[in-house]
Amino acid sequence: MGIQITPSILSADFAALGAEIARVPSADWIHVDVMDNHFVPNLTLGPAMVEALVRSTTVPVDAHLMITEPDRNSAAYVEAGASSVTFHVEAAAAPVRLAREIRRLGARASMALKPATPIDPYEDLLAELDTVLLMTVEPGFGGQTFLELCLPKIRRCRELMDKHGVQTWLQVDGGISLETIERCAEAGADVFVAGSAVFDADDPDAMVAALRERAVTATT
Ligand code: DX5
Ligand code: ZN
Repeated sequence: MGIQITPSILSADFAALGAEIARVPSADWIHVDVMDNHFVPNLTLGPAMVEALVRSTTVPVDAHLMITEPDRNSAAYVEAGASSVTFHVEAAAAPVRLAREIRRLGARASMALKPATPIDPYEDLLAELDTVLLMTVEPGFGGQTFLELCLPKIRRCRELMDKHGVQTWLQVDGGISLETIERCAEAGADVFVAGSAVFDADDPDAMVAALRERAVTATT
């Protein structure tokens, strides 16, 4: 699939999200951060808003669920039209069953790991997943500093994906910018979430292009 850039609307103007999404027409995905004030200390939006956002754009939407009980709540986001649903392994009671359910309902199944969660215990799950999301900040807020300590895990995850010959995408989220994207791409990431870097830029779509170019250059 190659390099993909997925702007996070967490750093966009919440009073004008449809218009904000229209500012990044070259995005591969739109990343929507769902937070429940329990799994993370922040509160954002739910399925009704995801449904409205999906209707507002032709770009596919990935719902990043930073919520407790994703086993009970993920289906609503597929039904809302998300093309990918990302649940946190730390919150999932039965990640294999959940990934299979998301796929069965017709979306890509994506599993996220917080910075302190190791990838090795989940080696055998890789074939069940369309995407692994490695958080490169503690989830909850945009605009945080990239955690360099996550780089070895990105490298390890890519090794495990190669070992198993899976087509699973390796996504990173948190602190991705023109300064950090090359290191993540070199380590093996291929999908890049960027919130503040994109929406704080004067020209968000030009920033999407610039991020893409950096990542492509780092991997060719
Ligand atoms: C943080 C969210 C991220 C956030 C990233 O918990 O999952 O998607 O929007 O924002 P930046 O790119 O500003 O670190
Ligand atoms: Zn996110």
